[in-house]
Amino acid sequence: MLPKYYEFLNSVKIMSGENALENLPHELKMMGAKKPIVLTDAILAKCGTLDKVQKAFKGFDIDVTETYTEIPPDSSIKVINEIAGIFKAKGCDSIIALGGGSVIDTAKGLRIVIEQGGNDIMDYMGLDSLPRKDRIAFAVIPTTSGTGSECTNVAVIANPDKNVKMEFISYDLLPDFAVLDPRMTETMPPKITANTGVDALVHAIEGYTCLQKNPLSQSYAFAAIRLITTFLPKAVLEGGNHEYRLAMSNAATMAGIAFSNSMVGLVHAIGHAIGGVAHVPHGIAMAILLPHVMKFNLETLKPAYAELLLPLAGAEIYATTPKEERAQKAIEFVTAFIKQFESVGLPTKLSDAKVTEDQFDAIAQTAINDGAIVVNPIMATKEQVIEILKEAF
Ligand SMILES: [Fe+2]
Repeated sequence: MLPKYYEFLNSVKIMSGENALENLPHELKMMGAKKPIVLTDAILAKCGTLDKVQKAFKGFDIDVTETYTEIPPDSSIKVINEIAGIFKAKGCDSIIALGGGSVIDTAKGLRIVIEQGGNDIMDYMGLDSLPRKDRIAFAVIPTTSGTGSECTNVAVIANPDKNVKMEFISYDLLPDFAVLDPRMTETMPPKITANTGVDALVHAIEGYTCLQKNPLSQSYAFAAIRLITTFLPKAVLEGGNHEYRLAMSNAATMAGIAFSNSMVGLVHAIGHAIGGVAHVPHGIAMAILLPHVMKFNLETLKPAYAELLLPLAGAEIYATTPKEERAQKAIEFVTAFIKQFESVGLPTKLSDAKVTEDQFDAIAQTAINDGAIVVNPIMATKEQVIEILKEAF
C-alpha cells in the first residue's frame, strides 16, 4: 500500500568499485575544488589509508596536503568549530571526509558552519530553516560499512558541556560524492566489520517496517538485506576479499538511503539510550537489541517480517516455510545470524556489554524520549522498554 504522501531524496553521486577513489579528483575538479581539507582519525592517518587517498590526487591541480587527523570517536561541536577556524585560516575550499560515522558527521557539521559563514555549529540548530547558500564540494570516503552516513541527511554531534548528543537532520547534510572503494575497508577488524554490518542490517529492517516507510526506501532496504546476509559473514572471515567488502559497502549505503528517507525505530531508540547511559558502542547495542525488538513488534509487523524472510534467508527457505510461519522464521534467522559473530567477540547480551540492571530505568526513560520511538509501529511504554531490556540481559 502506498502512503498518502511521502518524499524521497538521494542526491549523492555514488562511485563504487575497484579504484573508485581514483575517479574522485576529477569530480572535485569539476566542482572547482582546489584545496580541500581532508578530515580523518589518527588510526587511518597512521595505517596508510590517508596516504592512498593523497596518492590518488597526484597529477591533478588539487592540493590535498591540509589534513586534520585527530577526530575523536565521538564528533563534537568543539572539534567542528576548531576545524572551521583552520579551514578559513588555510584558505580551504572543499571537504573530504575519510573515516567512519564520527569523521563523516564532523564533516557534515563543518560544511554547515562554512557555508553559512559562521564560527559556531550551535548557531545552526533547527537546520531546515537555514537559507540555501553556495555549496562547497563535499566528498565522503567511508572506511566502515555500517552507518550509511555517506548517504544520509543525519549528523549526530556531541555537546560535551551538556553531556548530550545532538541530532541534526536536514537534506543540506547530504554529501556530493560517496566513494565506495574496497581498499578503504579491507583492514577493518572482524569485530568492527560484524557490529557495523549489523547496524546496517538494523537500518534496513527498521527502514522497511517503520511508520514512515515508502516504496522507494523499502526497495533499497530489501536489496541491502540480501547483500548483508550473503556477504557479512564472508567479509568478517576474509576481510581482504574485495568482492565481499564492496558488497558490504554497497549494502550499508543502500540501507542508509533507505532509513534517511523513512526513519529508524525502537531498536535505535533504545540503542541510542544504551549508548548515552551505559556507553555501549552503537553497533553492539544494535546487535543485542534487534531480535528482542523484532519479537516485541511481531504481532503488528507479521506480514512485513514474513516478506523479509526472502532477503534474509534466501528463496529456498522462504519457499519451503509455510506462509503463517515466515515472520517467526525471520526472527529466528536474525537471532542466529547475529549469534554467529560471538566467535569474533560480538556481545549478544546486555550483561556481556557491561550494562547493569540498575541502569534500566535511566535507559528506558531516555529511550521513550528518543525521536526514533515515534515511528516504531507500536508505541512502546517505559515499562515495555524495561521488559525488552530484561529479555536482552
Ligand atoms: Fe544505526
